Amino acid sequence: MNNIEKAEEKLKKYNQTHILKIMEKFTEDEKEKISEQVNEMDFENLTNLYNTLTKEEVNLGKVIEPISALKKNKLSPDELDEIDNIGKEIISSGKFAVATMSGGQGTRLGYSKPKGTFKIDVLPQPKYLFEIVCDTLKRANKKYGVVIPWYIMTSEDNNDQIIEFFKENNYFDYPQKDIMFFKQGQMPLIDEKGKLLIGENRLIREASDGNGGIFRSMKLNGCLDDMRKRGVKWLFIGSIDNVLLKMADTTLIGIAEKKNVEIATKSVLKNAPNERVGVICKKDGKVGVIEYSELPVKLAEAVDEDGDLLYGESHIMCNLFSLNILEKLSDVTLPYHKAHKKNSYLNENAELVVPEEPNSYKFETFIFDSFNYVNDIAILRGCREDDFAPVKNKEGVDSPATAIELYNKYWENNKE
Ligand code: UTP
Repeated sequence: MNNIEKAEEKLKKYNQTHILKIMEKFTEDEKEKISEQVNEMDFENLTNLYNTLTKEEVNLGKVIEPISALKKNKLSPDELDEIDNIGKEIISSGKFAVATMSGGQGTRLGYSKPKGTFKIDVLPQPKYLFEIVCDTLKRANKKYGVVIPWYIMTSEDNNDQIIEFFKENNYFDYPQKDIMFFKQGQMPLIDEKGKLLIGENRLIREASDGNGGIFRSMKLNGCLDDMRKRGVKWLFIGSIDNVLLKMADTTLIGIAEKKNVEIATKSVLKNAPNERVGVICKKDGKVGVIEYSELPVKLAEAVDEDGDLLYGESHIMCNLFSLNILEKLSDVTLPYHKAHKKNSYLNENAELVVPEEPNSYKFETFIFDSFNYVNDIAILRGCREDDFAPVKNKEGVDSPATAIELYNKYWENNKE
């Protein structure tokens, strides 16, 4: 059986015969290419995805409980010293690495290139978002006398642009052998009837599988093996768009080791009950993140004995994982969150249709769903002014303007 025949058989088996109809309009070469794609695709998974469309997606949990974070200012100087020394030892002995997630589309920012290549007008001179992360790493390298291995997650769509950008900028003087780029996975888009969409390039349309895809793609791309070879025990995974992100945080690493957990996360206190951030809590006894839209108002407004929001530990994409748990998570299928979106497609006559209403689903996994796979995690409450200045929107809240202000203020108060 040749490639095309094999694909035909698979498409018939999985009820995707509309593609055969469209393929009639394709050249032999185009038929060959789409058949290759079909033959590689996991159609069982696709059927499962379709089944999730009819199920209630979000498992809120029957019992939602608050979770407590370690607050630095509640530790004695001796306790803090002890924790920091553990963290310092981990970093300076080469057991620590960093991964930056930059596979997102950055749609809210409305910038057509990869978000990391966005230049932000900070003092004393403008910097690219990638450059800011790189500078943070270089400072840690200098402080601890090491070179921290840096894994950068890209997507099918932005990988080449990102690699080219690093070349053009001479890797911002980071040792090239210690930067590893790897592509995240993709998931096919499906319409409301579970049918695959064919795009203008005459292939099945796929999109990035969300930041939760990092575990599997690190394994598939050999990053976990690389970490093991280098003797790395802890990996910090952070986003590209927080200009105050501190990756090499000795307190975070120290409490993870001391509490003997596999995952640690840094939160910041939600600034108001209605701030649009997910909060870390317990759902049916397991650690999870609950989206702001799903948290009942009564709980969102409740306060603890210090007067702080009880459900106030915001998840800010500031997470630390042991190699051991990364290996486990790389074999786990995290739950898919679906997004109903407008996606163009070819109809049965191979003509392009641009829908005016959402017509299809994109499936993404989220990194924080990994918390559910451990019994406990360590949570360190950071400080907004020091730790959180995200670049999400073009204007207004969490925009370049707010991030610049926070960045400048931080560096004004923390001169090197
Ligand atoms: P966001 O969820 O904020 O998405 O990503 P985004 O792509 O930056 O922006 P919008 O929502 O399209 O406006 C948080 C972090 O996760 C990464 C992003 O690059 C960012 O660092 N991410 C997100 C990925 O690496 N892959 C994905 O599929 C999604």
